[in-house]
Amino acid sequence: MAAAAVLAVLVATAQLLLLVRGGSPAATAVEFVFPGFSRDNVTTSGAAVVTSASGGLLKLTNDTDEVFGHGFYPAPLRFKNASTGLPLSFSTTFVFAIAPRYPDAHGHGIAFALAPSPAVPRAMAGKNLGLFNTSDDMGQRTSSVVAVELDTAQDAEFSDINDNHIGIDVNALVSKNSTPAAYFDVTTGRFVKFSLVNGNPQQVWIEYDGESTRMEVTISPAGVPRPAIPLVSCVVNLSSALAGDETYVGFSGANGAAPSSHYVLGWSFRLGGGRAPDLDVSKLPSLPSSRSKKTMPSLLQIFMVLIFAVLVFILVSVAVVVLVARRRRFAEEEEDWEIEYGPHRISYKELHDATRGFRDVVGAGGFGTVYHGVLRRSSSGGAAADEVAVKKVAHDSRQGLREFVSEIASMSRLRHRNLVRLLGYCRRRGELMLVYEYMVNGSLDKHLFIVDDAGDKKPAALSWERRGKIVRDVAAGLLYLHEGSEQVVVHRDIKSANVLLDADMNGKLSDFGLARLYDHGSNPQTTHVIGTLGYIAPEMSKTGKATTSTDVFAFGAFLLEVACGRRPMNRNDDLDSPGLVDLVLDRLKAGRIMDAKDPKIGECDEADLELVLKLGLLCSHPDPRSRPSMRQVVQMLEGTAPVPDTPPKDLGSSSNRLFYGYRESFDEFATVFLASETTSVTTQPCSSHSNDEKQEVTSG
Ligand SMILES: *[C@@H]1O[C@H](CO)[C@@H](O)[C@H](O)[C@H]1NC(C)=O
Ligand SMILES: *[C@@H]1O[C@H](CO)[C@@H](O)[C@H](O)[C@H]1NC(C)=O
Ligand SMILES: *[C@@H]1O[C@H](CO)[C@@H](O)[C@H](O)[C@H]1NC(C)=O
Ligand SMILES: *[C@@H]1O[C@H](CO)[C@@H](O)[C@H](O)[C@H]1NC(C)=O
Ligand SMILES: *[C@@H]1O[C@H](CO)[C@@H](O)[C@H](O)[C@H]1NC(C)=O
Repeated sequence: MAAAAVLAVLVATAQLLLLVRGGSPAATAVEFVFPGFSRDNVTTSGAAVVTSASGGLLKLTNDTDEVFGHGFYPAPLRFKNASTGLPLSFSTTFVFAIAPRYPDAHGHGIAFALAPSPAVPRAMAGKNLGLFNTSDDMGQRTSSVVAVELDTAQDAEFSDINDNHIGIDVNALVSKNSTPAAYFDVTTGRFVKFSLVNGNPQQVWIEYDGESTRMEVTISPAGVPRPAIPLVSCVVNLSSALAGDETYVGFSGANGAAPSSHYVLGWSFRLGGGRAPDLDVSKLPSLPSSRSKKTMPSLLQIFMVLIFAVLVFILVSVAVVVLVARRRRFAEEEEDWEIEYGPHRISYKELHDATRGFRDVVGAGGFGTVYHGVLRRSSSGGAAADEVAVKKVAHDSRQGLREFVSEIASMSRLRHRNLVRLLGYCRRRGELMLVYEYMVNGSLDKHLFIVDDAGDKKPAALSWERRGKIVRDVAAGLLYLHEGSEQVVVHRDIKSANVLLDADMNGKLSDFGLARLYDHGSNPQTTHVIGTLGYIAPEMSKTGKATTSTDVFAFGAFLLEVACGRRPMNRNDDLDSPGLVDLVLDRLKAGRIMDAKDPKIGECDEADLELVLKLGLLCSHPDPRSRPSMRQVVQMLEGTAPVPDTPPKDLGSSSNRLFYGYRESFDEFATVFLASETTSVTTQPCSSHSNDEKQEVTSG
């Protein structure tokens, strides 16, 4: 019975032994793959977490100071042959990432570890990597920890080579062997250094051969094919290094004073010979995106930023070039003294826009070309668009210009319904632009000399009613210039061409004071007398001085011009034909003054026409003292004062006597004048000395 019992025990023991024998090969060949982790795939401790229920990251630490975390395979494994005690081969690969909070200071790194317990009791954070206790016996079997450290902090105490190295630790923090992080690039055949804390996934392969007890560590950025040449290797006799039979395998991450987030994305392991299965890097869970972006911009991003910068640079350059060109194009001249006239200045750009680049020429006068424009100005009452005429005058005199500009300023204060309003001016190198209100019906001479000027447009001949009205308008305007403002303004160039007509055919004087610009000696070589031949008072050719009286003389010529429909002097170099004054004077003496009337006028108020003719002669008196003032002229035109009944004989004789001197000096003046290049000459003197003698004979 006892023997049977002993037998039964023996059989049972044999069966148990068989069972153990049969089970042992299965226990030694262990293999697992974690392409991402679920919570029960690993045992975590410390700060470590698995970020999601399945397919998550093993996050060993978040970015908190002085923490460590562990993630170990839940079951213990035998790394030694149970019967011989010799080490077994193993192979593993994993993908990790370290994202530091600060770019220049980071945690201590990650270690792949074989340890006696998944919680690693007594281990500490920081430089101890969560695996060791500094007071443990260095290199003794007491801690029973073998690790591959991915060390991102340099500790002189442990002879760390730098803060970015890979080392093999056996029961101590002083590595048996270590190398700065680098991977073997197959294409160049060289090791390429890289940073463990660049926030990007990196892959590590560890091969341990139980026979030779050699451990080899290979690393490369994730996605790059496995390099053929390992980075670090050394002999590690796991038989002596690991104390017990049961060993846990997994990871530890630790932070010191500066934190990093330490991640393991995927892990594959095989114990008992053969290679661990490959990890498909593309199927691993992805890292928190903001972090990777923040720490390391991709090449594409850098490229795009570069392209953007280049584009911005090109755009800015183009803008600068355009601005400079525009500046130059619209450059103006302005001097200190002009500041007080500021409000009257209009920018060249404004004028350029208003005239559509000076395209619509509406006239070319003695002083320059006139352009039509629409000036948009924002006044206090809102935006307004004024139709304007812009007169471009060439100038090169600084001295005269200053006085002229001051005159413009005072003239733009002159306001009278029979004066064309000057709105402002603009000055550029060699150019002066005067801006006037626009007069729809143009200048009076166009209407008077339809036949002579034979232009495209042929307005109907002006009735006497219209002409009388215009004559009175001009007289009122001129009187205002002479007496209406604080200072006496001499027009200097009264003629039909300078009388403009608005939409209602009201006459308005324009160009007042313009002659003065030239009077102040733009060219001192030429005469100072400016005006238009036929309108220039005889005394002016002697004194060169414009007065209200010379204006009255010109106004007289203008009156005759309007009434007779003829220019004061013939245009066509016809030296023998008599001047208009002589002609009217002749008719007056013959008692047929109405013969002088413009035949185009037709039926009219003859008394009024006669008044104008007589007044014209009176104003044309060669002796300035005999001419009326503009106030008297206006009174006579209004009928409030009688026209002095100068006997034709007196007028004739007195004029003739003076005409001699006048003619002589006139001829002299004209010769000088015509020789010069001054612009406002419209005709030549019409009569010669002999002609005068002949006239004297006829008149006597
Ligand atoms: C990891 O955990 C998941 C979910 O519990 C399970 O399906 C899978 O088999 C585990 N992987 C391994 C290698 O044990
Ligand atoms: C980091 O982990 C520690 C420990 O698990 C936790 O107390 C802390 O709140 C975490 N901090 C952050 C910012 O997640
Ligand atoms: C352990 O060693 C013995 C003797 O050398 C051998 O027969 C056995 O296969 C080994 N076991 C393992 C799991 O390698
Ligand atoms: C380190 O380990 C020793 C025992 O080996 C223990 O006495 C000591 O307290 C540990 N140090 C820390 C800081 O845990
Ligand atoms: C490893 O250590 C064991 C026990 O200390 C020893 O028997 C063995 O020969 C060693 N192996 C090598 C390769 O040194």
